[in-house]
Amino acid sequence: SPVFQDPLKRAVAKKAVELVKPGMIVGLGTGSTASMAIEELGKLIGAGKVKDIQAVATSYQARVLARQFGVKTVDLNDVNVIDIAFDGADEVDGQMNVIKGGGAAHTMEKVVNTMAKKTVILVDQSKVVPQLGLTFPVPVEVLPFAISPVLRSLVDLGGEPEIRSALRKDGPVITDLGNMVVDVRFPGGIKDPAELERRINMIPGVVENGLFIGIVQTVLVATKDAEETLII
Ligand code: A5P
Repeated sequence: SPVFQDPLKRAVAKKAVELVKPGMIVGLGTGSTASMAIEELGKLIGAGKVKDIQAVATSYQARVLARQFGVKTVDLNDVNVIDIAFDGADEVDGQMNVIKGGGAAHTMEKVVNTMAKKTVILVDQSKVVPQLGLTFPVPVEVLPFAISPVLRSLVDLGGEPEIRSALRKDGPVITDLGNMVVDVRFPGGIKDPAELERRINMIPGVVENGLFIGIVQTVLVATKDAEETLII
Protein backbone atom coordinates (compact mmCIF):
# COMPACT_ATOMS: atom_id res chain seq x y z
CA SER A 1 0.00 0.00 0.00
CA PRO A 2 1.23 3.52 -0.71
CA VAL A 3 3.33 5.17 1.98
CA PHE A 4 1.82 8.62 1.51
CA GLN A 5 -1.73 9.54 0.51
CA ASP A 6 -2.66 12.82 -1.10
CA PRO A 7 -4.48 12.84 -4.44
CA LEU A 8 -2.97 16.14 -5.66
CA LYS A 9 0.61 15.17 -4.87
CA ARG A 10 -0.05 11.71 -6.33
CA ALA A 11 -1.27 13.21 -9.61
CA VAL A 12 1.80 15.38 -9.93
CA ALA A 13 4.13 12.49 -9.03
CA LYS A 14 2.60 10.31 -11.76
CA LYS A 15 3.02 13.14 -14.27
CA ALA A 16 6.63 13.76 -13.26
CA VAL A 17 7.87 10.20 -13.75
CA GLU A 18 6.58 10.24 -17.34
CA LEU A 19 9.74 12.26 -18.02
CA VAL A 20 11.96 9.27 -17.24
CA LYS A 21 13.44 7.53 -20.29
CA PRO A 22 15.20 4.14 -20.48
CA GLY A 23 18.79 4.13 -19.27
CA MET A 24 18.48 7.31 -17.23
CA ILE A 25 20.19 8.00 -13.92
CA VAL A 26 17.56 9.54 -11.66
CA GLY A 27 17.92 11.66 -8.52
CA LEU A 28 15.45 10.68 -5.81
CA GLY A 29 14.33 13.52 -3.53
CA THR A 30 13.10 13.45 0.03
CA GLY A 31 9.73 14.24 1.63
CA SER A 32 6.16 13.11 1.09
CA THR A 33 5.86 14.34 -2.51
CA ALA A 34 9.21 13.01 -3.71
CA SER A 35 8.36 9.71 -2.02
CA MET A 36 5.31 9.37 -4.23
CA ALA A 37 7.52 9.96 -7.28
CA ILE A 38 9.79 7.13 -6.09
CA GLU A 39 6.78 4.88 -5.74
CA GLU A 40 5.45 5.84 -9.20
CA LEU A 41 8.88 5.30 -10.75
CA GLY A 42 8.98 1.87 -9.13
CA LYS A 43 5.62 1.07 -10.71
CA LEU A 44 6.88 2.05 -14.19
CA ILE A 45 9.99 -0.11 -13.72
CA GLY A 46 7.93 -3.01 -12.37
CA ALA A 47 5.60 -2.83 -15.37
CA GLY A 48 8.59 -2.90 -17.74
CA LYS A 49 7.76 0.57 -19.10
CA VAL A 50 11.23 1.99 -18.43
CA LYS A 51 14.33 -0.19 -18.33
CA ASP A 52 17.91 0.17 -17.07
CA ILE A 53 17.16 2.86 -14.50
CA GLN A 54 19.69 3.66 -11.81
CA ALA A 55 18.93 6.10 -9.03
CA VAL A 56 20.82 8.23 -6.52
CA ALA A 57 19.04 8.81 -3.21
CA THR A 58 19.16 12.09 -1.25
CA SER A 59 18.44 10.54 2.16
CA TYR A 60 17.92 7.32 4.08
CA GLN A 61 14.19 7.81 3.48
CA ALA A 62 14.66 7.90 -0.31
CA ARG A 63 16.98 4.89 -0.25
CA VAL A 64 14.61 2.79 1.84
CA LEU A 65 11.64 3.67 -0.38
CA ALA A 66 13.65 2.96 -3.53
CA ARG A 67 14.41 -0.49 -2.24
CA GLN A 68 10.80 -1.02 -1.17
CA PHE A 69 9.47 -0.05 -4.61
CA GLY A 70 12.11 -1.79 -6.72
CA VAL A 71 14.24 1.16 -7.84
CA LYS A 72 17.93 0.27 -7.98
CA THR A 73 20.14 2.81 -6.20
CA VAL A 74 23.83 3.52 -6.71
CA ASP A 75 26.32 5.69 -4.85
CA LEU A 76 26.54 9.30 -6.02
CA ASN A 77 30.27 8.89 -6.51
CA ASP A 78 29.78 6.00 -8.90
CA VAL A 79 27.96 8.12 -11.50
CA ASN A 80 29.25 10.98 -13.63
CA VAL A 81 25.91 12.50 -14.41
CA ILE A 82 22.33 12.58 -13.16
CA ASP A 83 19.85 12.91 -16.01
CA ILE A 84 16.82 14.02 -14.03
CA ALA A 85 16.06 14.64 -10.36
CA PHE A 86 12.63 14.76 -8.69
CA ASP A 87 12.15 16.58 -5.42
CA GLY A 88 9.66 18.43 -3.27
CA ALA A 89 10.03 21.94 -1.84
CA ASP A 90 8.78 24.05 1.02
CA GLU A 91 8.41 27.32 -0.93
CA VAL A 92 8.75 28.19 -4.65
CA ASP A 93 8.82 31.71 -6.07
CA GLY A 94 8.11 33.01 -9.58
CA GLN A 95 11.77 32.58 -10.64
CA MET A 96 11.75 28.90 -9.67
CA ASN A 97 13.96 29.63 -6.68
CA VAL A 98 13.01 27.45 -3.76
CA ILE A 99 13.40 26.84 -0.06
CA LYS A 100 14.01 23.22 0.85
CA GLY A 101 15.05 21.36 3.97
CA GLY A 102 11.75 21.00 5.82
CA GLY A 103 12.78 17.37 6.12
CA ALA A 104 16.41 18.20 6.95
CA ALA A 105 17.66 16.60 3.74
CA HIS A 106 18.62 19.74 1.80
CA THR A 107 22.40 19.20 1.81
CA MET A 108 22.30 15.97 -0.17
CA GLU A 109 19.33 17.27 -2.17
CA LYS A 110 21.36 20.30 -3.25
CA VAL A 111 24.28 18.15 -4.40
CA VAL A 112 21.99 15.85 -6.39
CA ASN A 113 19.75 18.59 -7.80
CA THR A 114 22.75 20.68 -8.86
CA MET A 115 24.35 17.71 -10.58
CA ALA A 116 21.13 16.86 -12.44
CA LYS A 117 20.73 18.06 -16.01
CA LYS A 118 17.10 18.70 -15.12
CA THR A 119 15.64 19.17 -11.65
CA VAL A 120 11.87 18.82 -11.44
CA ILE A 121 10.22 20.20 -8.31
CA LEU A 122 6.82 18.83 -7.32
CA VAL A 123 4.58 20.98 -5.16
CA ASP A 124 0.98 21.82 -4.51
CA GLN A 125 -0.36 25.34 -4.92
CA SER A 126 0.13 26.17 -1.23
CA LYS A 127 3.93 26.19 -1.70
CA VAL A 128 3.94 28.82 -4.46
CA VAL A 129 4.76 32.22 -2.93
CA PRO A 130 5.37 35.76 -4.21
CA GLN A 131 8.54 36.10 -2.11
CA LEU A 132 10.67 33.49 -0.34
CA GLY A 133 10.91 33.51 3.43
CA LEU A 134 7.71 35.33 4.33
CA THR A 135 6.32 32.25 6.03
CA PHE A 136 8.93 29.48 5.87
CA PRO A 137 12.32 29.80 7.59
CA VAL A 138 15.58 28.90 5.84
CA PRO A 139 16.89 25.54 7.12
CA VAL A 140 20.63 25.54 7.72
CA GLU A 141 22.63 22.35 8.38
CA VAL A 142 25.34 23.07 10.94
CA LEU A 143 28.28 21.12 12.35
CA PRO A 144 27.38 20.48 16.02
CA PHE A 145 30.93 21.59 16.98
CA ALA A 146 30.21 25.11 15.69
CA ILE A 147 26.58 25.61 16.69
CA SER A 148 27.03 28.67 18.96
CA PRO A 149 29.19 30.83 16.67
CA VAL A 150 26.99 29.91 13.72
CA LEU A 151 23.87 31.02 15.63
CA ARG A 152 25.55 34.38 16.37
CA SER A 153 26.57 34.85 12.73
CA LEU A 154 23.03 34.08 11.57
CA VAL A 155 21.72 36.81 13.89
CA ASP A 156 24.32 39.17 12.38
CA LEU A 157 22.78 38.43 8.97
CA GLY A 158 19.41 39.66 10.26
CA GLY A 159 18.00 36.22 10.96
CA GLU A 160 16.11 34.73 13.89
CA PRO A 161 17.65 31.27 14.25
CA GLU A 162 16.15 28.39 16.16
CA ILE A 163 17.69 24.94 16.57
CA ARG A 164 15.25 22.36 15.19
CA SER A 165 14.02 19.93 17.85
CA ALA A 166 13.10 16.35 17.19
CA LEU A 167 9.46 15.30 17.55
CA ARG A 168 9.90 11.87 19.05
CA LYS A 169 13.23 12.37 20.76
CA ASP A 170 14.37 14.89 23.32
CA GLY A 171 16.89 17.33 21.92
CA PRO A 172 17.91 18.42 18.43
CA VAL A 173 17.19 16.86 15.07
CA ILE A 174 20.34 15.12 13.83
CA THR A 175 20.52 14.88 10.04
CA ASP A 176 21.42 11.81 7.97
CA LEU A 177 24.92 13.35 7.84
CA GLY A 178 25.19 13.69 11.63
CA ASN A 179 24.67 17.44 11.91
CA MET A 180 22.17 19.84 13.50
CA VAL A 181 19.55 21.96 11.71
CA VAL A 182 18.85 25.60 12.46
CA ASP A 183 15.67 27.16 11.07
CA VAL A 184 16.26 30.85 10.38
CA ARG A 185 13.38 33.29 10.03
CA PHE A 186 14.00 36.49 8.10
CA PRO A 187 11.33 38.98 9.17
CA GLY A 188 9.81 40.70 6.13
CA GLY A 189 10.94 37.93 3.78
CA ILE A 190 14.13 37.48 1.74
CA LYS A 191 14.97 40.36 -0.57
CA ASP A 192 18.00 38.88 -2.34
CA PRO A 193 17.88 35.06 -2.08
CA ALA A 194 21.07 34.49 -4.11
CA GLU A 195 23.08 36.83 -1.90
CA LEU A 196 21.65 35.32 1.28
CA GLU A 197 22.42 31.79 0.06
CA ARG A 198 26.08 32.77 -0.44
CA ARG A 199 26.40 34.68 2.84
CA ILE A 200 24.97 31.87 4.96
CA ASN A 201 27.27 29.32 3.33
CA MET A 202 30.31 31.52 4.03
CA ILE A 203 29.81 31.13 7.80
CA PRO A 204 32.40 28.61 9.04
CA GLY A 205 30.58 25.58 10.45
CA VAL A 206 27.65 25.85 8.06
CA VAL A 207 27.38 22.74 5.93
CA GLU A 208 24.62 23.91 3.57
CA ASN A 209 21.47 26.00 3.56
CA GLY A 210 18.05 25.33 2.04
CA LEU A 211 17.98 28.20 -0.48
CA PHE A 212 18.15 26.63 -3.96
CA ILE A 213 18.80 29.47 -6.39
CA GLY A 214 19.02 28.85 -10.13
CA ILE A 215 19.08 25.08 -9.63
CA VAL A 216 15.54 24.14 -10.67
CA GLN A 217 14.49 23.79 -14.32
CA THR A 218 10.87 22.69 -13.96
CA VAL A 219 8.17 23.12 -11.33
CA LEU A 220 5.06 20.95 -11.48
CA VAL A 221 2.24 22.41 -9.43
CA ALA A 222 -0.62 20.20 -8.31
CA THR A 223 -3.91 22.05 -8.47
CA LYS A 224 -7.49 20.96 -7.89
CA ASP A 225 -7.88 20.22 -11.61
CA ALA A 226 -4.93 17.78 -11.52
CA GLU A 227 -1.61 19.39 -12.21
CA GLU A 228 -0.11 22.12 -14.29
CA THR A 229 3.36 23.35 -15.14
CA LEU A 230 4.23 26.64 -13.55
CA ILE A 231 4.57 29.15 -16.36
CA ILE A 232 6.61 32.17 -15.42
C1 A5P B 1 13.47 17.69 2.57
O1 A5P B 1 14.48 18.18 3.36
C2 A5P B 1 12.78 18.83 1.93
O2 A5P B 1 13.61 19.58 1.11
C3 A5P B 1 11.55 18.36 1.21
O3 A5P B 1 11.79 18.18 -0.13
C4 A5P B 1 10.50 19.38 1.42
O4 A5P B 1 10.39 19.59 2.81
C5 A5P B 1 9.14 18.99 0.84
O5 A5P B 1 8.55 17.95 1.53
P1 A5P B 1 7.03 17.54 1.29
O6 A5P B 1 6.93 17.06 -0.12
O7 A5P B 1 6.76 16.44 2.28
O8 A5P B 1 6.18 18.76 1.53
